[in-house]
Amino acid sequence: MTAIRSVVLGCGSYLPRQILTNAELAARVDTSDEWIVQRTGIRQRHIAAEGEFTSHLAMNAARAALAHARVDAQSIDLIVLATSTPDNTFPATAVAVQEALGINRGAAFDLQAVCSGFIFALATADNFLRAGAYKRALVIGAETFSRILDWKDRGTCVLFGDGAGAVVLEAEVQPGKSSDRGILTTHLRSDGRHKSKLYVDGGPSSTQTVGYLRMEGREVFKHAVGMITDVIVDAFNATGLTAEDIDWFIPHQANKRIIDASAHKLHIAPQKVVLTVDLHGNTSAASIPLALAVAVKDGRVKKGDLVLLEAMGGGFTWGSALLRW
Ligand code: ACO
Repeated sequence: MTAIRSVVLGCGSYLPRQILTNAELAARVDTSDEWIVQRTGIRQRHIAAEGEFTSHLAMNAARAALAHARVDAQSIDLIVLATSTPDNTFPATAVAVQEALGINRGAAFDLQAVCSGFIFALATADNFLRAGAYKRALVIGAETFSRILDWKDRGTCVLFGDGAGAVVLEAEVQPGKSSDRGILTTHLRSDGRHKSKLYVDGGPSSTQTVGYLRMEGREVFKHAVGMITDVIVDAFNATGLTAEDIDWFIPHQANKRIIDASAHKLHIAPQKVVLTVDLHGNTSAASIPLALAVAVKDGRVKKGDLVLLEAMGGGFTWGSALLRW
């Protein structure tokens, strides 16, 4: 029986020009390159320029994805933008992107699931496309986490960076098998009992301020690997595919130790893991499409490859997506 699948037509990304190295951070707070690399794998991160907003990063990534997909912006009828650092409380950053691209049909909205945002946005767009509600979607992850960091808190400010990535999805009829191209399965989870372990201490309704990111790093670490692997096992069970079948594992880039431990637990070979955390830091909802764009551009991810995506973040939220390129 045939199935409608959301096939990835192209991807793109954008990073602000300014790079902040560990050595530069060590001049600001009591930390060292050695500590950061050993605990996280991060060597540098990009920081948005003054006046450069999440929407600007998102627009550049969206344009790159449209060019890579070789489709006209006018053919897009759905934009789902994952971010926890919108330009404004409202309207959605997605409508700024929609306007910049000259699109005035279909729907554009933001979605907030912190670092799992891109997986949640991908699953949302996939469900709309498979239901026949829209035909061609832009799914974007874009963040300016530098704006919500407490630059005096060495426990968090060394971890995050700014950036954006995007994919273009199209609804296509496929044979309805695990060998289909497109998104084969998505799995989303959340558990609000953990909401105080990673949060921002401000907001329009509570403090009328934006607030700063606060995190119990050890607590996040403790839960991350189990949650990530659970939701990947869900993806394998839903499709009958296994870790052996995976060509590329493109995880949320929060911490190299979490990524290595997850890959090890799932028996995914290290050479199949795409790592960009060293160069980008944790860019929250942007990290997966940023890593994807790197692996597509350098020729690793090719048509027909089976790609496994996963993320875990504030909430806690976590999720996986299995797709064939
Ligand atoms: N430089 C130097 N020392 C530091 C730094 C720093 N940047 N930050 C903390 N320390 C110190 C602490 O003060 C502490 O010192 P003490 O022993 O004298 O009290 C010591 O290092 C150990 O601190 P821990 O927090 O226990 O260090 P840990 O080994 O757990 O590493 C880290 C911290 C890297 C944050 C780790 O817990 C982690 O990676 N957690 C997961 C965080 C994460 O990935 N978050 C994002 C996921 S969700 C999302 O993406 C939004």
